[in-house]
Amino acid sequence: MTTEISHKLPGEHVYDGILFFGYTPPDILDAVKDFEVRDDDVFIVTYPKAGTTWMQEILWLVMSDGNFDSAYQKPVYFRSPFLEFKDDVLNEVGLELAEPMPSPRVIKSHLQVKLMPRQIQQKNCKIVVLFRNPKDLCVSYYHFYKSSSSFGNYQGTWAEFLYMFLSGHVDHGSWFDFTRGWWQERHNANVHIVFYEDMKKDLSGAIKELAVFLGKSNLGDELIDRIARHCTFDSMKQNPMTNHEDVYSIDSQMSPLLRKGKVGDWKDHFTVYQHEVFDQEFTSQLGDLNIPFVYQL
Ligand code: PPS
Repeated sequence: MTTEISHKLPGEHVYDGILFFGYTPPDILDAVKDFEVRDDDVFIVTYPKAGTTWMQEILWLVMSDGNFDSAYQKPVYFRSPFLEFKDDVLNEVGLELAEPMPSPRVIKSHLQVKLMPRQIQQKNCKIVVLFRNPKDLCVSYYHFYKSSSSFGNYQGTWAEFLYMFLSGHVDHGSWFDFTRGWWQERHNANVHIVFYEDMKKDLSGAIKELAVFLGKSNLGDELIDRIARHCTFDSMKQNPMTNHEDVYSIDSQMSPLLRKGKVGDWKDHFTVYQHEVFDQEFTSQLGDLNIPFVYQL
């Protein structure tokens, strides 16, 4: 496997040992720590490409008791701000979007536990952590690195990207560190861990569980099913409020954010050797945790 890393993220920097792209600058990471959390906030925390956008749309609809009219009027990235994001081109800052937002807020973050707002420890906010099997996630990240100018329109090979991913040399750092940190929070009553593959298997069932966790058990089965239908891959891909095709930094012709939405796409990318290297690294870094990742349905 290659050991050369030549790709540079625009504005890349290392903060507390973690690599970030320029859209998450150091001053924002400092400010995130002091972000004022509310008891009724809902955080959706993921490593990039775990299905964040999918979960944002679901959580926003659950928390708004199914306000589909508003969901069809505003892109999901404005309804559910990305906490540590700053886009100098659009002058869009996640913290500034979140601060004045009426409750309940649904806030997206890709941060490791140690970089989250300090107040999440004291407040009664809820945190939904979405995990996805790391092979599909890595493939998804590779395609996004290529199609997105904020990631520097990656031109390297898949083999090189895989090496970057395994060494944590990608935006938001090591997937292994992220996953270990948040898995250790799983017994916290305010943290709910969900797996992408479980959502693929039974979306209505996953939404029902989320609704209970979020104190929304009153949502009826009919509304839950409507949210599930609204949030299928095909429906979100066609919906301009969720498909991100208007985002200037994403070349959707090359690879859209909603690319395949499948479990098992990794098989079309990994060689047998890469699969073995990946498994070895996984076992050495996270093998002791027995996290029930699913690689095919
Ligand atoms: S980001 O930019 O990090 O927030 O990206 P994120 O939303 O986490 O990940 C994008 C991947 O999630 C898939 N996705 C979905 N899968 C199934 N159903 C629905 N509704 C859905 N919405 C988004 C999306 O297709 C990306 O995965 P890949 O494998 O690249 O298709």
